[in-house]
Amino acid sequence: MSRFRVGLGVSGGIAAYKAVEVMRLLQKSGCEVRVAMTRHATEFVAPLTFRALSDAEVVVDDYDPENSDPIAHVNFSQKIDLLLIVPATANIIAKFANGVADDFLTSTYLAATAPVLIAPAMNTTMWEQPATQRNVARLKADGVRFVEPIAGELACKTVGTGKLEDVENIVRQALEILSRSKGSNDGENDGRTGDLKGERFLITVGGTREAIDPVRFISNHSSGKMGFAMAEAAAARGAEVTVVAGVTAVDPPEGIKVVRAVSASEMHKAVSSELTNATVFVGAAAVADYAPANAADAKIKKDGRDTLTLELKKTPDILGEVSANRHDGLIVVGFAAETNNVIEFARNKLEKKKLDIVVANDVSKPGAGFNADTNIISILTADSADDFAIMPKRQAADRVCDAIKKLREERGR
Ligand code: CTP
Repeated sequence: MSRFRVGLGVSGGIAAYKAVEVMRLLQKSGCEVRVAMTRHATEFVAPLTFRALSDAEVVVDDYDPENSDPIAHVNFSQKIDLLLIVPATANIIAKFANGVADDFLTSTYLAATAPVLIAPAMNTTMWEQPATQRNVARLKADGVRFVEPIAGELACKTVGTGKLEDVENIVRQALEILSRSKGSNDGENDGRTGDLKGERFLITVGGTREAIDPVRFISNHSSGKMGFAMAEAAAARGAEVTVVAGVTAVDPPEGIKVVRAVSASEMHKAVSSELTNATVFVGAAAVADYAPANAADAKIKKDGRDTLTLELKKTPDILGEVSANRHDGLIVVGFAAETNNVIEFARNKLEKKKLDIVVANDVSKPGAGFNADTNIISILTADSADDFAIMPKRQAADRVCDAIKKLREERGR
């Protein structure tokens, strides 16, 4: 059996012939590809080409009396791990963005729960039209990913942006999405790929570093593993993710926007500027609670002293501030790393900072510490507390995503 199933949607542009190459490359990479075409696309490439190469029926019109499956769009959409549109015309983008479902491909988009990747190709003016850009922005906000068109000579002999990205790059991005979401499908999020589509996560990750002087700093043991696992889990389930990362011992997952912020005050600033767009805020960073009140401009010399006193001042409480000034619909999640009275301290945090969810862990337990790949978490909300056994951080992140999803269902947007 193939590792991944891709629904390849072909709409009516001159670049439709390149969809054949995309299909071949996907097949070589171990994907099973089923093709859906718009009527206009069939003017550029015959359905028979795809049918012969994919050895499967190519669906064009849901309502064709010859069609063996009368609800093909529903069945087709439920059997794919990714819906990839190559090429996407301005028209199909406009229809997707507005929920129009007047043919097989548009109905499939509406019925799909799999991630969606769109590779547009069109004339530069059409691409740059405010209407098209508005539709693209709306789809991105809905969690759809794009392989942006590139600049070059177009079929209409003009030069500008609108050319389909190289097929290799399209396939590479498709495979990245597939391996991320399928990874979580394989037991990590129990198959709920796409259930966070439409959410925009802002996550703080890692430890901060507070300068004492130009060569010394105060920091902590945070590795960033749990925060990056949260980012990966949310993205695999269809959310758009931005991470504000302090100091981390591991690389961020691919395909995620990362803003670096080393100190608590830089992190505070970065969060403030990214926050307006977010629907979920997760404070997974180990932010220093105190920083040197006056970092020295030059290296501090011993000067014969036996003791040295540093004055520390409180850093901004990023999580507390986000929670206190939250915009409508924002879900706020905090972490509580404790060494004793874990649940009691975590519940205090939930109430004091008015959080929606607190993820608590006892960092003194083996398998739940800063650098471990596993965690032992409890997830607290105002009216629940769930304890989980030791599990990989990536899986623990999915349990937190489940709690976020549940809250969203209860509250709406
Ligand atoms: N946090 C933050 N900004 C800070 C400090 C902490 O955003 N300046 C966030 C962390 O990302 C984490 C949560 O707040 O989600 C931890 O809460 P906090 O009360 O700061 O934890 P402790 O430092 O453990 O608190 P306490 O002093 O009660 O032990």
